[in-house]
Amino acid sequence: MTSTTSIQHLAQHVGETVTLQGWLHHRTSKGKLHFIQFRDGTGFVQCVVSKSNVSEELFDALAGAGQESSLELEGEVKADERAPGGVEVSVQGGQVFQSVSEYPITPKEHGPDFLLSRRHLWMRSKRQWAVLRIRDAVITAIRGFFDERDYLCVDSPMFTPAACEGTSTLFELDYFEGEKAFLTQSGQLYAEASAMAFGKVYCFGPTFRAEKSKTRRHLTEFWMLEPEIAFADLDDVVELAESLIVHVVSEVLRRRQPELEALERDLSKLECIKGGFPRITYDAASKILLEHPDSEFVAGDDFGAPDETILSEMHDQPLMITSYPKNIKAFYMKEDPADSSKVLCMDVIAPEGVGEIIGGSQREENLDLLLAAIAEHELPMEEFEWYLDLRRFGSVPHGGFGLGLERTVGWICGLEHVREAAPYPRMMTRIRP
Ligand code: 4AD
Ligand code: MG
Repeated sequence: MTSTTSIQHLAQHVGETVTLQGWLHHRTSKGKLHFIQFRDGTGFVQCVVSKSNVSEELFDALAGAGQESSLELEGEVKADERAPGGVEVSVQGGQVFQSVSEYPITPKEHGPDFLLSRRHLWMRSKRQWAVLRIRDAVITAIRGFFDERDYLCVDSPMFTPAACEGTSTLFELDYFEGEKAFLTQSGQLYAEASAMAFGKVYCFGPTFRAEKSKTRRHLTEFWMLEPEIAFADLDDVVELAESLIVHVVSEVLRRRQPELEALERDLSKLECIKGGFPRITYDAASKILLEHPDSEFVAGDDFGAPDETILSEMHDQPLMITSYPKNIKAFYMKEDPADSSKVLCMDVIAPEGVGEIIGGSQREENLDLLLAAIAEHELPMEEFEWYLDLRRFGSVPHGGFGLGLERTVGWICGLEHVREAAPYPRMMTRIRP
């Protein structure tokens, strides 16, 4: 009897005979030997099949098995220092479930459109395997971080009757009996209500933006992590964001070494993320951009992607920018009591040219100022009555932020485009497969 195990645990089975179930990633055959790069989703391992060790039927079946043939292989786990993962398998038996020929994604270079149209298969490639396993580790690290700190996970709805982040990027849909609804742009407003009920909360789910931008940073559907804390000010929010990022990066380094290796990620860029992030104000960042020869930044505007890239490349650690002008930010942000033209907010700009991964703020807790802001932004007051209740019944200083999951994963993995960080990316020009 052999035990079925997975490649990620093979190193614990050296000297034992095990069964692996998975797919043929690559095969080279030389006379009486097949060298099979085998994958089972948890990893990749070389399986050596010698004609003298297996039935003729199996040897011949493997000789005809192409990339992505499904297999079960049984064999002895052998330590091999040169092999990735430190082991290889000497095959003694097994079977071919389905022999495949002409798998469309070959080891040669394919263009991004070709691959994106075959995302359901592309996920099986080593790079995509690495990225999506790192995404999983980021999610686990995030949940662990908040769980350890006694935050309650309270999720926000996806269908909403009103905008949270400006009306220009709303996906509208027909609800029932002629009523319009929108896909949520952010769970924040509901997270604020949840924070008043539970103290420290977070929501974590899909969010949607009808962004008509084809940049390497924009998806139309992406996941956002949004903590919200009652009795907190901007400093608390900034500190929370910093500790979260440090924790997530260190967890990925601890749990996903083979994946980072597969991506050929420069680990020194992640190992230096230790805290003590640089902090500057919007005004200071503006000054840098206005003096920068490559920047087209206009004083008073929000930072565009090229501006973020410039700022992002200035530091090894994420850069925290606070105190943006009130007129370029969302209605709910708290006015700075020391300067009514500014709001108490923060953006976190990841290094290496990645740009914004977090946006957050202290929230306006004063009913009258919030009423004025909703009117100023021409938002439908009646849809915000429930939200205004939070300022009528036990209002307290509070704040939180939103972290874009795909941008964070993209940064950690060193990806050129955020689309690879989503299992099934949704963009302006792509909703399939
Ligand atoms: O800065 P944003 O718009 O902030 C909010 O939505 C707040 N309500 C969050 C909060 O305070 N609870 O978005 C937050 C983050 C961005 O920093 C970015 O990482 C990500 O969400 N994001 C996108 N990611 C991919 N594609 C897009 N189109 C994105 N838009 C925002
Ligand atoms: Mg933002």
